[in-house]
Amino acid sequence: MQEVYTRFGSEIAKGLKRSTQAQANTKCWPTYVQDLPTGDEMGKYLALDLGGTNFRVLLVTLKGHHDASVDSQIYAVPKDLMVGPGVDLFDHIAECLAKFVAKHDMRNAYLPLGFTFSFPCEQVGLKEAMLTRWTKGFDCAGVEGEDVGRLLHEAIQRRDDVEIDVVGILNDTTGTLMSCAHRNPDCRVGVIVGTGCNACYVEHVDNVELMDPAYKRKQKQVIINIEWGAFGESGQLDFVRTEHDRKIDEKSINRSEQLFEKMTSGMYLGELVRLVLVQALEQNVIFKLSSKRQEYADILRNNVDIFETKHMSEIEDDTFPEFANTRRIVKQLFGLEKAAVEDCQKLKYICECVARRAGTLVAIGVSGLINRISDRRVVVGIDGSVYRYHPKFDAYIRETMHKLVKSDKEFDIMLSEDGSGRGAALVAAVASKTK
Ligand code: GLC
Repeated sequence: MQEVYTRFGSEIAKGLKRSTQAQANTKCWPTYVQDLPTGDEMGKYLALDLGGTNFRVLLVTLKGHHDASVDSQIYAVPKDLMVGPGVDLFDHIAECLAKFVAKHDMRNAYLPLGFTFSFPCEQVGLKEAMLTRWTKGFDCAGVEGEDVGRLLHEAIQRRDDVEIDVVGILNDTTGTLMSCAHRNPDCRVGVIVGTGCNACYVEHVDNVELMDPAYKRKQKQVIINIEWGAFGESGQLDFVRTEHDRKIDEKSINRSEQLFEKMTSGMYLGELVRLVLVQALEQNVIFKLSSKRQEYADILRNNVDIFETKHMSEIEDDTFPEFANTRRIVKQLFGLEKAAVEDCQKLKYICECVARRAGTLVAIGVSGLINRISDRRVVVGIDGSVYRYHPKFDAYIRETMHKLVKSDKEFDIMLSEDGSGRGAALVAAVASKTK
């Protein structure tokens, strides 16, 4: 833990410096979001949210007094759009937006829009964001190296049924930080443990060498998008990575990339359990008494993603000796009625090991940030399906944080309420305030 902690800290320092940023895994991109919300922001905003399992369009009403309401619609992103030409993806986004606007009778409202685009981007201002690499299973041609704000704008222009003013592009971690800061002024860190895993935090501008100096005169702070999912790409995590981690990486569409993310996020945790379970079956240490052990191993081997990350949450929620969820999942996977208590315990133990390791790694990163920030009290805003739905993830994170956060610091963790929507609206709102 301490070794990873130290390596993490030096990687972030590298990311912030102009002379070393190119070699850093954690790029520490300045987001150009410099004003945290006060709570009295008002107005109606549109928001787009791309980067998790779904694509969403939202209408956010900020009401002042730390209050907001959100009306949203989820649209599927078909698998072929995730790896097809970029124009098709952006046309799809524009079409969903147009449908949403028509449904809400807002075609002539001309509302400001915040675009939560949850991939690594190099920003030169709030509205320009160049995608540096795709992550999380996306791989659309013609987008890397391009300004996603421009691509969105062009897709909207290709239709003539909607007019929108894109005022800000942000990462989901920034949205999470903003939405938590809207409720709690001590929030300085935003974390996502969902399909992907990443964090952002509030840094002093003097430490941010890559930011346009013009912006440093106005405000002394800026949110940094760390992109910590990429940590480990120079081998820093090799001493703790297992054969299962290596296998996941080899089979992925972004080989050798996002190695920290592959140990911590929802897209990979279920897969890790599947691989460990296959090995346990091969070594005859689980389902020992079943004559069909080979068959179970084949089922797992032949069906990538058959063991879902949400199954881990359900299994870890189970109590001894009923194991109601575990038995249902085992039946669903293998057709095995009434798995033995001993096998349920073992499966639960595998899930726990994988989740606990993820929680520990996330906590190492979060603790490093808290210790780096000069405020004595730091609130961490967190969101994402793994954090939200796993019954013990929060406890795993806190356990490690209590070991690593310096004793003169005070911290708390808060769940973000709709960071991608409310957060996007808040970025749009503070942007127009400072104009
Ligand atoms: C991936 C993306 C990052 C995002 C995270 C959580 O790591 O690269 O931008 O914040 O997933 O969605």
